[in-house]
Amino acid sequence: MLKSFLVCCFGACALMANVCAATQLAIIPQPQQVELGSGSYPLDAHTGIVAPDDARGREIASFLHDAIQAQTGLSLSQDRQANGIVLAIDSTMQGDEAYRLAVNEHGVTIRAATEQGLFWGVQTLRQLLPTAKASSIALPYVQIDDAPAFVYRGFMLDVGRHFYPVAFIEKQLDLLSYYKINTFHWHLTDDQGWRIQINRYPKLTDIGAWRTEADGSRYGGFYTQAEIREVVDYARKRNIMVIPEIEMPGHSVAALASYPELSCTKQPLPVATTWGVFKDIDCVGDQGTFTFLHNVLDEVIALFPAPYLHIGGDETPKDRWKDCASCQALMRERGLKDEEGLQSYFIKSIQGYLTGKGKTLIGWDEILEGGADRSAIIEIWRGDDEARKALENGNRVIIASPFYLDSPSNKLTVESIYHTTIASSSKPSDAAAFAAHRAQILGAEAPLWSERANPVNAESKLYPRLQALAENLWNSGPRDQAAYADFLRRLQAQYGWLDAQQVAYGVADRRVVEYTISADAQQAGWQLQARRGFADLQNHYTTDGSEPDLQSPSFTDGLALKQPGTVKVAPFRRGVRYDDASSFTLVANRAQGRPIRFAKPASPSYAPGTVLVDGVTGSLDFHDGRWAAWHDNDLDAIVDLQQNTTLHAISIDFMLATESRILLPKRVSFSVSADGKHWSQVHAEALTADLSSSSQRLQRVVYKPAEPIAARYVRVVAERNKVSPASYPGGGKNTWLFADEILIQ
Ligand code: ACM
Ligand code: ZN
Repeated sequence: MLKSFLVCCFGACALMANVCAATQLAIIPQPQQVELGSGSYPLDAHTGIVAPDDARGREIASFLHDAIQAQTGLSLSQDRQANGIVLAIDSTMQGDEAYRLAVNEHGVTIRAATEQGLFWGVQTLRQLLPTAKASSIALPYVQIDDAPAFVYRGFMLDVGRHFYPVAFIEKQLDLLSYYKINTFHWHLTDDQGWRIQINRYPKLTDIGAWRTEADGSRYGGFYTQAEIREVVDYARKRNIMVIPEIEMPGHSVAALASYPELSCTKQPLPVATTWGVFKDIDCVGDQGTFTFLHNVLDEVIALFPAPYLHIGGDETPKDRWKDCASCQALMRERGLKDEEGLQSYFIKSIQGYLTGKGKTLIGWDEILEGGADRSAIIEIWRGDDEARKALENGNRVIIASPFYLDSPSNKLTVESIYHTTIASSSKPSDAAAFAAHRAQILGAEAPLWSERANPVNAESKLYPRLQALAENLWNSGPRDQAAYADFLRRLQAQYGWLDAQQVAYGVADRRVVEYTISADAQQAGWQLQARRGFADLQNHYTTDGSEPDLQSPSFTDGLALKQPGTVKVAPFRRGVRYDDASSFTLVANRAQGRPIRFAKPASPSYAPGTVLVDGVTGSLDFHDGRWAAWHDNDLDAIVDLQQNTTLHAISIDFMLATESRILLPKRVSFSVSADGKHWSQVHAEALTADLSSSSQRLQRVVYKPAEPIAARYVRVVAERNKVSPASYPGGGKNTWLFADEILIQ
């Protein structure tokens, strides 16, 4: 085990001020065994790298040479006779990814049974180097014996909801590899975008890669086959396997928008622009669907050498199959009991096709429901019950549920990732099942679903949480508080490296920044507050509608705003932008900051009812903190203007987002009163919403009296539409009413 982290190398260090006074190793993931010696071995321009004389051996040596140069500025000798660092295959070593790294008076040696192990040894060696430029380097004497606890150590990126350029992905592959994450699961297709060029079906990327956003703008992008090959090779050089995911039969709206003949209705439909689960899925009763999928898979298989292919299989509503003559005919012909049987038929058929091509199918845990056989690998996302079922069924599993990186950093913290026991259940009653099937638990993966993640803010969601996952998956030592404290110490030492790579990493247990805006009580304006996760984070803002940049004025914790208009604010740190701008639309409201009472309080899951009179209007994002919501009750609010006031207009905003069961109210009324006891209704309006199609928009209900009216109290009542049509996602269930600003002018 670990003897001591402290290395003293006084003799050598006296001459090399830029290296160590008293070096502490700060390797992540912590190697299984570290023994520190006393002394250090110098690297300089005469040091060479001796490696196996084959293509991969030369590639690894050249990777190490370039990495040392990029990291420290030191260019080692390219002379293949010069030695100092020896990389050697040693067939006596055990384990595909295991390695032994020794630094002593003879130099540096890395031994491993495979090239994979050699490469991880190289990554560990890099973590012994200084992260700043150095003219000479002293490596501490050390012997490291290392191998991972789990074989599958993954990260998934959803490029369907937001598109990530190749340069972004390659930067992440560098970082993943640095921390010995060995699998990149590339979620390439979804309802909102098809991102992989398929030569035989050009419309997948001509049409399916682009969507028209609510504001009319076009959004999208895709990877050419040449770019896919480039990424796969870039990953291979860094010991990372790339597993493509082609979603089927659900989450396929972008494909159906490109080729409507693949759907049950055969009707044209747009690439999805909202988030959620969509009813239009691949038509299983149409043989053309299988022809299409086989042809697509053939091209995908040719691009990805990994022995695995992920076919999604999650969140597949059966509504269309129930109404489809050809799906129903197939069901009868095959003697299937119901549409779940059809799903099973579909998955088994695709699995058979992939098996014939030498590929093992991976799918989300829904594919277990009567679907894939036990050779399929199940990715667990719905929790421990699904994991237990898969294990007992004999399947191998990848655990994803505890590691959803789209969860905010204050909810899914570094500490919680660090302490999650991957090969166990939260239910004591499942302990035996997990223990008995431990060998089937391949490892874990952290997915980044990208509804709210994009290339600007993604890194703050990935790091440092991926370092915690990497440690959890690699090191099998105890995970107690002392070990966690040591992890935090090593993490602290890694931040300098991340800064040097311009990585916009987040905070271990907090959001990077939280903006709140509140009405000034004196009606004199607004206070914009920034709760900052980093002391050196700056907030740059604009008030003219333009995007804030480093040249825009900035503030640290709070900003007083006096004028109505649009304020946009974005966080920056060390010159790097950390997120999209948050936008606040400030309106002059006579009700601003005035007392407001509700017959029934707003749902605690969304903003408090006071947002209705804060002089800030909500956006199309109902999570923006500006919307108050009612689930089981109507909205019934009374605003006290605190003095008799002349009113020229009263209005209120509502949200319609049918995919989320947020409906417009059935009826809205405004009443006024001088004393809060005797009311006169001044306006009532019935809203006829078109509930036949899915849509999202805002609706303002406005009352403008012919002559101004005088009142101290204003009452607003909005009656909910209590049931959504049964045809909706989660239809027939209770609905939400979302309201914002009661605007009194
Ligand atoms: C999933 O999160 N729908 C796999
Ligand atoms: Zn059908």
